[in-house]
Amino acid sequence: MKPKASVRGLPVYQPGKPLEEVKREFGLEDVIKLASNENPFGCSKQVWPALAEEKDNFYLYPEGSAPELREKLAEHLEADPRRLIFGNGSDEIVQMIARTYLEPGTESVMAEITFPRYETLTRMEGAIPVKVPLRDGIHDLEAMARAVTEKTKIVWICNPNNPTGTIVSHDALSDFLDQLPDHVLVVVDEAYYEYVTDPSYPDTLSLLDYNPRIIVLRTFSKIYGLAAFRIGYGVGHPDVITELNRVREPFNVNRLAQRAALAALDDQAFVTYCRNQNRLGIKKITDKLDEWGLHYFPAHGNFILFDTGYPADEAFEYLLKRGVIVRSGQALGYPTYIRVTVGTEEQNSRFLEVYESFLKAKGKMPTNA
Ligand SMILES: Cc1ncc(COP(=O)(O)O)c(C=O)c1O
Repeated sequence: MKPKASVRGLPVYQPGKPLEEVKREFGLEDVIKLASNENPFGCSKQVWPALAEEKDNFYLYPEGSAPELREKLAEHLEADPRRLIFGNGSDEIVQMIARTYLEPGTESVMAEITFPRYETLTRMEGAIPVKVPLRDGIHDLEAMARAVTEKTKIVWICNPNNPTGTIVSHDALSDFLDQLPDHVLVVVDEAYYEYVTDPSYPDTLSLLDYNPRIIVLRTFSKIYGLAAFRIGYGVGHPDVITELNRVREPFNVNRLAQRAALAALDDQAFVTYCRNQNRLGIKKITDKLDEWGLHYFPAHGNFILFDTGYPADEAFEYLLKRGVIVRSGQALGYPTYIRVTVGTEEQNSRFLEVYESFLKAKGKMPTNA
């Protein structure tokens, strides 16, 4: 049997190597995973008791529109609840957007090196991905605006960009939106929103008030530490949300995910703690990278992309064998770079220690340094 043409040859998503697999493969006990930009501090302690509240409801389908979470999140974001849509991870909202707006003969514009699902899902709909090179690791919004044609239905902006970690500023985004024709939907993927501390970072929800063409994507998988539950959300114009709801699976966000997200939202002290720890971790790691003279991109999320100066798989394998899982840039479009998720203080120290031993093994440092 032959699959349909738009699916033939599509890449299967390659996630970071799972902890369990590395333990088995290398016979290691103590393995740390700094490969998928998960929260090393777990999630709020309030989540576990909240899950118990669902224990008698496992036989019931969830409410598809997540009314309780919708109200609470709308209040938290100071947004109209009709502007929200929930997904089985923000991944699923990327899928719903592609399904709703793309078809053969249409195009979607994205950065050349960015979150890979935009391209895969564009192709899945038989549409054409138009890829615009990054400039110094940053979305080149001027070039992206020039790439828009009458066939363009969507522009994807990943902010902070995965895998570079760079951001576009509020002013740059606002100018970009002003240049776009009305038939284009702009998806601003802010999966790492809560980690960003740079004052120039866009307040995209405020842009949405007078710009109905934006949909903002966020997630509970990153700073809220709920990746296992698969829950993310989009904030857009109610008309866009209505269209997306037509393609949404009826019960796409399960009961436990909704319950976990409600509890997690209540614990903003945990979010602040994680954001602060992440900044400290970035400083610790980038100070060392500076000392070692290795290039890295300005890190605004919870990960750092840095240049090893060798084929990235060499450092990746070296770290892996010593129980530190990172992401090789080989598959990410930066063949000499490594993407490392910022961990706990202890995990960051371990990563730096092992990386230092890699540099020594490469003769890049005096062995007694
Ligand atoms: C930029 C970006 N968007 C979306 C996602 C998907 O997140 P979720 O777990 O909400 O599906 C990720 C996950 O790594 C991401 O990096």
